[in-house]
Amino acid sequence: MTEFLSRGAEIAVLGAAGKTGAAVVAALDGLAGVRRVVHTARRSGDHAVDLDTGAGLDEALSGCRAAYVIAPNVHPDEPALVRRVLAAAAAGGVEHVVYHSVAWPYTPAMPHHVDKAVCEDLVRTSGLRWTVLQPCAYAENFAAVLDGTATAVELPYSPDVTFSFVRLADVAEVAARVLAEGPEVHHGATYELGGPETLSVRALCDRASVPVKQVSVDEWMSRHGRDLTADGRARLSAMFEFYDRHGFLAGSAAIESLLGRPPT
Ligand SMILES: NC(=O)c1ccc[n+]([C@@H]2O[C@H](COP(=O)([O-])OP(=O)(O)OC[C@H]3O[C@@H](n4cnc5c(N)ncnc54)[C@H](OP(=O)(O)O)[C@@H]3O)[C@@H](O)[C@H]2O)c1
Repeated sequence: MTEFLSRGAEIAVLGAAGKTGAAVVAALDGLAGVRRVVHTARRSGDHAVDLDTGAGLDEALSGCRAAYVIAPNVHPDEPALVRRVLAAAAAGGVEHVVYHSVAWPYTPAMPHHVDKAVCEDLVRTSGLRWTVLQPCAYAENFAAVLDGTATAVELPYSPDVTFSFVRLADVAEVAARVLAEGPEVHHGATYELGGPETLSVRALCDRASVPVKQVSVDEWMSRHGRDLTADGRARLSAMFEFYDRHGFLAGSAAIESLLGRPPT
């Protein structure tokens, strides 16, 4: 690893308690040289940050050399949130901002992707040193299929459209490497992070002998989307409709090049 980390970096992981954040923190924990990982999620207790108001943000970022920025899933206004984070990062002297985006950010049919495209622009024009990671859909979105506990899968889009599912651990290992090597190596880079093969959900389920059935978006929402806001439901519905027509693909070369091995 390079000097950036060996000098002892304090790294803020925003959204550390979530699915992505937990994986990034675990990958950082495995690296020598990280003095402190700042967990910032409302429930974490150690650095409780509210990204919607900015409460606690300045304190959490102050003194950190790097910040890994993960916005909550289908947030109603991710650009406002990222603007707030960038202002606090600049004020706090953060030397490297790594933004967790998504593959295909500028996809007009998916508003939460377009929001990430806007955020990428905010990051690139912030005056800070930055890196953008663009993961494809995680294989872990089907965690119960992967760990053998699923008995059936209900899908609000065609089981036959294809994805470049990426393992979350690979994404987290890339994130940790980029943070560890720092802006001297990764400033100005955007890495698309897809998995090694093009796979449908049916193929994924077939491998685990789990039956998969397509249901309407409304039916899926009535069973699995009850806790979502109306805005969250609309954003996810748009994503499902897009998946149904186009799937969601991404290249795997960046993972292979960054980790020196093929993606899992
Ligand atoms: N799933 C995929 O396939 C995929 C692929 C590419 C990119 N992504 C992106 O990855 C990101 C993270 O997704 P995820 O599934 O890991 O999310 P998640 O598990 O829902 O985690 C979201 C995190 O944000 C925190 N949070 C929510 N509202 C907050 C607020 N107002 N202030 C501070 N913290 C707040 C949550 O903390 P609490 O515990 O306090 O609620 C949690 O730690 C999303 O932006 C998503 O678009 C996902």
